Amino acid sequence: MNHHHPVSLRSFGAVVFVFFFAILLASCSKQNTANNVPVVPNPDPGNTPINSPIPKSAGTFIVPAGNPMNDPKTPARIELGRHLFFDRALSVDGSTSCGSCHNPGSGFADPRGMATSFGFGGRQGTRNAPALANVAYNIHYTWDGKFNTLEDHALAPIFNNIEMANNFSATGADPITSGYYHSDPGANDTLFLFGRIDGRQARTQQADPNSSKVDIAGKTYYTLMMDAWGTSTYSLDLIQKSIACFERTFISTQSTFDRFNNGDPTAYKYNPEALHGFQLFTDVQRTNCVGCHSGYNFSDQQFHNNGLAVVPTVNGRIDSGRVGISKDMNDAFKFRTPSLRNVALSAPYMHDGRKKTLDEVMAFYKNGGDKNVSNKDPMLRPSLNLNDQDISDIIEFLKTLTDPKFTMNTAFLSPWSN
Ligand code: HEC
Ligand code: HEC
Repeated sequence: MNHHHPVSLRSFGAVVFVFFFAILLASCSKQNTANNVPVVPNPDPGNTPINSPIPKSAGTFIVPAGNPMNDPKTPARIELGRHLFFDRALSVDGSTSCGSCHNPGSGFADPRGMATSFGFGGRQGTRNAPALANVAYNIHYTWDGKFNTLEDHALAPIFNNIEMANNFSATGADPITSGYYHSDPGANDTLFLFGRIDGRQARTQQADPNSSKVDIAGKTYYTLMMDAWGTSTYSLDLIQKSIACFERTFISTQSTFDRFNNGDPTAYKYNPEALHGFQLFTDVQRTNCVGCHSGYNFSDQQFHNNGLAVVPTVNGRIDSGRVGISKDMNDAFKFRTPSLRNVALSAPYMHDGRKKTLDEVMAFYKNGGDKNVSNKDPMLRPSLNLNDQDISDIIEFLKTLTDPKFTMNTAFLSPWSN
């Protein structure tokens, strides 16, 4: 297959690097003004207890004031966050952890491969669990950008009555018909949650130093809490901060593409298909994928209508996307551009998981999206005029965004024995 155009890897990488970096900066400055979240840039992301190198080209990510990543206690907070993330006691029936729907081996997407995730009691949600690689860099969270920080988001699944359902006793409402998010727990729900986390059937706010619930290493939450925060009193604030610290360590920077982007001439040497796929992906005239999937994480962090036909969700409603949050009709059926890092591992695709494979995704884009969709983004190219080889080359490129050092990082293993 000799169809790729000869280019100098190094100079091409450099051009892309500058291009990505410029866009990244643009989106960072936006957050400070657009969302009223007090934020401070992580002063030195290379110097945080993150288990992966962060190249300069990735830029710095922003952390809310009050939950720094460079505190002496940050490693202990990450450790507590890891315990919470993989703890099924966070769900009201002990069935579901964050890790049930966000598995490191799948780039922290749902490993079970269904279109939309199942949570508490086998209840099915209406959206596909996104991959969480480099989630620290996002400026909006969830498909419609309902949340602005990882801290704000972390409690949502815990109290969402389709996911972990800790508000179930408080509302007594039917989880399907009562709508999607119910993030406001009753006081008893919160105390039960703490008790369950601590391994006890009690309403409590205090971690018990003698709790029988211990991790593989024999540690109690009491020890974890004391190490992380110097207190044994649970609070939602400390729980959400700890989870967010752990999530900010989900750094994926060592894919084959990264080697290419860092100027390693061997990265695509034996994979000219991927190189050609990359050229097509960044070809503004032909595909303009990079029009939306731009920046270090292949997302402009904006909301677009990429041409998906409007179809009812599993509960028969219509998911109208960003407009539900912004109330701006121009945002109807717009969803946040997803990152494409580790995308080959996170099937199925799109906000409702309607595309089972990357082949299906490409067949969709090849025709400029579905027919008769109003409000399609003008950045979509109407017909891509790609042959089968071109399409498989783009997929080959997307596969080089897989980062095994990330998905197999032992820092992301569950600390629990079951
Ligand atoms: C039942 C499956 C399920 C569980 C359990 C779950 N999630 Fe999710 N997660 C999802 C789905 C689905 C979405 C997308 C929600 C949306 O767009 O409204 C999501 C979105 C997210 C996002 C936003 C990512 C982004 O870039 O927009 C983060 C972060 C996240 N989850 C972390 C967590 C944490 C932390 C927990 C545990 C406290 C958790 N999730 C539990 C399914 C789940
Ligand atoms: C107009 C902006 C835009 C353009 C151009 C665009 N995308 Fe997307 N892409 C999106 C949005 C927005 C989504 C999520 C849409 C949804 O779920 O409703 C998405 C979803 C995807 C997904 C699914 C990812 C996941 O985790 O579910 C893949 C893969 C993808 N795009 C690849 C491409 C490729 C390849 C091209 C070029 C052929 C391209 N995109 C062009 C905006 C765009």
